[in-house]
Amino acid sequence: MSVNPVSYENRNGIGLVIISNPPVNAISPEVVAGLREALAAFETDAQAKALVIHCEGRTFVAGGDIASFESPEFDTRPFSSLLTRLDTSPRLVVATLHGTVLGGGLELAMACHYRLALPDTRFGMPEVRLGLLPGSQGTQRLPRLSGVSLALSLILTGQSVSANDALAAGIINEIAEGEPLALGIAAAERLVEAKAPLRRSSGLKIAIDAATTQALAEAAATAAKKPAYPALGAIVRAVEAAVNLPFEEGERVEAREFDQLRLSSTSRALRHLFFAERAAARIPSLKGDVARGPNSVGIVGAGTMGGGIAMNFANAGIPVVIVETSDDALRRGLSLVRRNYETSAAKGKLNSEQVEKRMGLLTGSLDYASLASCDLVIEAVFENLQIKKDVCARLGQVCRTGAIIATNTSTLDLDVLAEATGRPADVVGMHFFSPANVMRLLEVVRGARTAPDVLVTAMQVARRIGKVPVVSGVCYGFIGNRMLEPYMRETEFLLLEGAHPGQIDSAVESLGMAMGPCRMSDLSGVDIGAKVVIGQYEAGALPPDPSYRVVVRRLFELGRHGQKTQAGYYRYEGRTPLPDPLVADICADLAREHGIARRGVITDQEIIQRLMYTLINEGIQILDEGISYRPGDIDIVWTAGYGFPDYRGGPMFMADQIGLSEIESTLEHYGRVRGNQFGYWTPSNLLKSLVVTGQRIGGWTR
Ligand code: COA
Repeated sequence: MSVNPVSYENRNGIGLVIISNPPVNAISPEVVAGLREALAAFETDAQAKALVIHCEGRTFVAGGDIASFESPEFDTRPFSSLLTRLDTSPRLVVATLHGTVLGGGLELAMACHYRLALPDTRFGMPEVRLGLLPGSQGTQRLPRLSGVSLALSLILTGQSVSANDALAAGIINEIAEGEPLALGIAAAERLVEAKAPLRRSSGLKIAIDAATTQALAEAAATAAKKPAYPALGAIVRAVEAAVNLPFEEGERVEAREFDQLRLSSTSRALRHLFFAERAAARIPSLKGDVARGPNSVGIVGAGTMGGGIAMNFANAGIPVVIVETSDDALRRGLSLVRRNYETSAAKGKLNSEQVEKRMGLLTGSLDYASLASCDLVIEAVFENLQIKKDVCARLGQVCRTGAIIATNTSTLDLDVLAEATGRPADVVGMHFFSPANVMRLLEVVRGARTAPDVLVTAMQVARRIGKVPVVSGVCYGFIGNRMLEPYMRETEFLLLEGAHPGQIDSAVESLGMAMGPCRMSDLSGVDIGAKVVIGQYEAGALPPDPSYRVVVRRLFELGRHGQKTQAGYYRYEGRTPLPDPLVADICADLAREHGIARRGVITDQEIIQRLMYTLINEGIQILDEGISYRPGDIDIVWTAGYGFPDYRGGPMFMADQIGLSEIESTLEHYGRVRGNQFGYWTPSNLLKSLVVTGQRIGGWTR
């Protein structure tokens, strides 16, 4: 951070305030202090006819400094009072905008009398994504400039709009091409020359009509349905205040709401995830390794996974060669991709030209030789060790020197596959989640011999195709599926003990999980889950417990493969899961076979503790083993890939909210009452040591 992030100068009669606070000119306490000084300098500079506010670097202010929100002393008022001074300045104030004018940046711009922007500038109020509202007059100024309906939509969704849309909505006054500072000075001179009246956004009237009332009522109704996100209701109340109260009173309502939200657990969790997502992109211990920068991609396998992966690259404009073993499989795969695109087109998300352009980037082939010139080749064939080893061996021969070979395996040993290529340094895991064109998470798996620049490339490619990448070391299931294992294990034991699928699902869904474990298994396929367990059993990797995950295996044997066979943990009418007494019978039989006592009452609290605390314990174990670099990475895996509620910040963040000693003692409690012959309830060593030292897992570093 620069020592003095804001400067003031008078250049030929125009005062210039220049903010320089890389990387995104966020409004930190230092920037506020600098702005205060700079504004005072302008106010006492009788020679300045007008003021221009400009930011150096890649963008105008992209928001308040999110890190500073953690400070107990944080206060929006110093910045807000500066905005009032700009607004009420008797001399013209111009904001010259480029990059991403977000949050506090847009608030700063809206306090100026005139706003001009470069054509590719974007505007938005993303605070809601952090569980906040714009806390420095944004909820009061935006409705005055753009009308209530658009303001509500921007502030409630956090979505950004283009310069053209901002101009049409009245958020900015002009779009111009050139160098922002020169453009700002020229505009100021022109407006002063023309004696243009100063237009203060605080003084604009909001039209109170039927559309305004309806927009507010609809927004309030939507907010009421999402109590886990208190910012939504607060935003509606603040915009209502803009409509009904004088500016200063509305500003007080906004400040009060902001203060409460900032301290809310939802906002703390979302702020944690903001930084965790960015931290996850960083790989410790790299020494300036540079990406190999792939421009062409090959994919082996045109199944659902291969096709979905291919779509990510086509969406990013990167050509893809897809190799299959038969014409039929190739045709099926490509037509599935086309169908997916056409569904998006039918929803208005793409036009037909875009569909054709993306399809045009996909080339099918039956010949591995077509992969010879690709920079990155991803195998996405059937999850079977021998098949994948064979494919890897062929790729090792056919791929050009320097090309990267990636495997999409979710359960197999990456190092074994890497050796099979004969060039393990070029191999990395790219574990996409299904549907691969939709899910944001990508586990990037570093093998024992993966070259650093290969790892860097995989991370960069992931971001290029819009994924959230997290690095995992090699272990069974990597980060996500490995933590899922105890969660599924306890689900099945609870079923054997007498809980019903509906009860288990509702209990974890009440916590905010997108889908409970039984519904999730039915959707992803009981057969898929069972085959993995059977594979593990054959590999001798399961605990020596004959009752281990017997439910999924029995359902599989009975042909209850989930939603696709209209029966799994539930029976189905269409896509609607319904309780099935047969499943209760199956579980009762299995319990009898394995000598597991049935119980009359199993509380939701027990379900949540047994599923979530064992999952958390496994996560802490993963950190201890060095499979995951940081607790935040685990939180990103679960929130971006497994439907964990973002407002709880992920399992590691939640662990600190619950308290590590509470988790440890609860694990030990179940160890006593359920027996701990197989170590299911043994707290990880790291958990134990953190409890002893009173540390949080969130602050843990290796
Ligand atoms: N406060 C503090 N740091 C911020 C920040 C903010 N408002 N916005 C971005 N940063 C930091 C990031 O943490 C990252 O730091 P790192 O390089 O040390 O990891 C860096 O700026 C670049 O951000 P990144 O998101 O990786 O770059 P990008 O080019 O993909 O996106 C933005 C840039 C500005 C669009 C994006 O960062 C963003 O949406 N920021 C949040 C804006 C916001 O919410 N503003 C309102 C705050 S109340």
